[in-house]
Amino acid sequence: MRNKLVAGNWKMHGNLQDNSALLEALKIGLPKPENNARYAVCVPFPYLASAQATLNGTQIEWGAQNLSQHEKGAYTGEVSAQMLNDFGCTYAIVGHSERRMLYGESSQIVAEKYVAAQRAGMIPILCVGETLEQRDSDTTEQVIDEQLKAVITLAGVDSLENAVIAYEPVWAIGTGKTATPQQAQDIHLFIRKGISAQNSEIAENLTILYGGSVKANNAMELFAMPDIDGGLIGGASLIADDFIAICKAIQN
Ligand code: PGA
Repeated sequence: MRNKLVAGNWKMHGNLQDNSALLEALKIGLPKPENNARYAVCVPFPYLASAQATLNGTQIEWGAQNLSQHEKGAYTGEVSAQMLNDFGCTYAIVGHSERRMLYGESSQIVAEKYVAAQRAGMIPILCVGETLEQRDSDTTEQVIDEQLKAVITLAGVDSLENAVIAYEPVWAIGTGKTATPQQAQDIHLFIRKGISAQNSEIAENLTILYGGSVKANNAMELFAMPDIDGGLIGGASLIADDFIAICKAIQN
């Protein structure tokens, strides 16, 4: 049975006090996951120690939002996969559109980060998705193909056995403009079919998340689609009650 996952992406928000309070509220409020569901929070690097201390042994997993593609060395300001391992990270987000667009991460670099995460035993959450211009010019599938191909070329299709894909249309991120369940389902199916052509078992078992303005009031209808296996949640993951409601929506 396919795993389902709701992962919070806190981005660069919060402070020591608020973030500790949020972790505590989630620990208390989130039910034990059932039906192959998992919950996770991807926190800014400085809060990983606190996430580990608070969430160790609980129903909630944690991870990072980025990592270096390099193992170690003279890379000022970077954080390696091994360092994330020291803090018990299960997941590392790679290729978020904010990283691709604001920090110039190419699909090749994203693929290298994906490999680095897996080499350290973490599950990469690989983000793919098109901009509004790309959707309007009917190149969505081409864009996603290119983003996936870079990873499959470098790591092989079998690597997807230990990975999660997040489809995040850039035009839906932080805009309050969610893709309709059908729009998201169409792309999820496109992704799964493309992978299925190379390995049907891996495609069938692959967890594919939707991300982009998922809220407590739209999560249920998105998660009801057959190829949507959960969500990557930005804004709504910062409010304990909202994130808990979204996590509950994946249980059904
Ligand atoms: P959002 O962000 O839920 O705030 O749209 C999603 C994401 O960027 O992962």
